[in-house]
Amino acid sequence: MTIAQITDLHITTDKDPLNQKRNEDRLRQVMKAIHALRPRPVAIIASGDLVDRGELEEYLELKRLMDESEIPIYYALGNHDLRGPFLEVFSGPGAQTDENGFVQYTVDFGPMRMLVCDTLEGENDGGYDEVRADWLRRTLDEAPDRPTALILHHPPIPSGIRWMDPDPKSPWILRLEEVLKGRDQVKVMMCGHIHRAFNGIFAGHMVTAAPATSIQLTLDLTEVDMHVPDGREILVEEPPGFVLLMSQGQDLTTHLCLAGDYTPAVTYNFPFRKLA
Ligand SMILES: [Fe+2]
Repeated sequence: MTIAQITDLHITTDKDPLNQKRNEDRLRQVMKAIHALRPRPVAIIASGDLVDRGELEEYLELKRLMDESEIPIYYALGNHDLRGPFLEVFSGPGAQTDENGFVQYTVDFGPMRMLVCDTLEGENDGGYDEVRADWLRRTLDEAPDRPTALILHHPPIPSGIRWMDPDPKSPWILRLEEVLKGRDQVKVMMCGHIHRAFNGIFAGHMVTAAPATSIQLTLDLTEVDMHVPDGREILVEEPPGFVLLMSQGQDLTTHLCLAGDYTPAVTYNFPFRKLA
């Protein structure tokens, strides 16, 4: 069984025609690639920055695009989202809230559990206050033996791309670490936000960040002065992509996938043992 993760869609309206066309074209490319997969994923999780400015019209545009999907879609929120307008447009199993109005919920897929967390906290940086952490603690307590994939927009570890990275000592990151330490059922933490794929470890768990369906961050690991613009490239039109989560019994595995039309290099015309 597989689930596809898409992230950082940044869908917008004709107020911003350049970004609208580019981000929609790239999202369509990703959705086409996901729908062509065999076996077909049972679900798609869109892990935040669904739209660009948190406007109602943008969510209506997103809904129009996503209504074309033949695969059910689940949503998490990022720093470009706003809970109010999102919840005006989306409802049902893919847009559930906890008792405090945060977009946090669980979904069961056979033996595996997907747990969506809400790290939206104003500006660029993420957040996770005690109220949300308490929900996470209780929710993890409910199923300590089920392989669990945590979905959260903001990776709680640095990528090395300085201008986007969080302070690892931020209170919300320390709080999350305290909640997740020793929770062996958490097999993977699936994030977005960085607009570039990278992996790391947090509180003993694997963290994967997916590439954006919109534009990617330039891979620049050098120092940068946050107050002195120096003309460097920071975003780039590298191919859009997604992550495919595969569940096999107790194991969860992720594949990084790029969307696009690629030419086959070799076809299976001889028994595999002769190819080796
Ligand atoms: Fe984003």
